[in-house]
Amino acid sequence: MASLLRSAARPSTLRATAFASNPLRSVTSADRTFVRTKVTLPDLAYDYGALEPAISGKIMELHHSKHHQTYVNSYNDATEQFAAAEASNDVQTKITLTPALVFHGGGHINHSLFWENLAPKNQGGGEPPSGELAQKIDSTWGSLEEFKKAFNKSLAGIQGSGWAWLVQHRPTGVISIQTRPNQDPVVGENKPLLGVDAWEHAYYLQYQNRKAEYFNAIWDVINWKAAEKRLSGN
Ligand SMILES: [Fe+2]
Repeated sequence: MASLLRSAARPSTLRATAFASNPLRSVTSADRTFVRTKVTLPDLAYDYGALEPAISGKIMELHHSKHHQTYVNSYNDATEQFAAAEASNDVQTKITLTPALVFHGGGHINHSLFWENLAPKNQGGGEPPSGELAQKIDSTWGSLEEFKKAFNKSLAGIQGSGWAWLVQHRPTGVISIQTRPNQDPVVGENKPLLGVDAWEHAYYLQYQNRKAEYFNAIWDVINWKAAEKRLSGN
């Protein structure tokens, strides 16, 4: 996931780097403020229109360049405010900012994963999983088709905005389907392998109230290779 959470070093990082090169120099709390970084909007590996007809180019453009960009900007704003509060030891403000960090930081993490687990059909989108992931899906749900049915049922059951995820429980290796409300990210013991955005902004322009059609169509552009990579990664 580290590659997804790219950050752009602020110019002042240069000063921090210079300090780091001198191990004899002690680092003060003032110095530490120089190493704050910002997250940035990741580039897509495909054109906005490349997932059609499953997902329209207009949705992809708005979703990526507007919605995701807003999560990026708002997360960066919240981290700036959090750092200022930390510098002045303002505990109340830090607590007040926490929901914004979860929401916008989660929005950034979730969408970064989402773009990677989509692919145009001519780049492997919709091709079934193989290897260990395919075996785990078969042994857990019986078949890929049964897994998709169970996943779509979970998606349909989300009340309001949220996500459904195929996750792996790190300690046991067991895979399961889990949902999260709003932009709550999958963190901790569970590793996200594959996620589908069930927010209206992900489908409404094209599918209106027929979200079940969106949930069915998206499997045509799911990049199972990305999920396999996450299963074998950290
Ligand atoms: Fe979204």
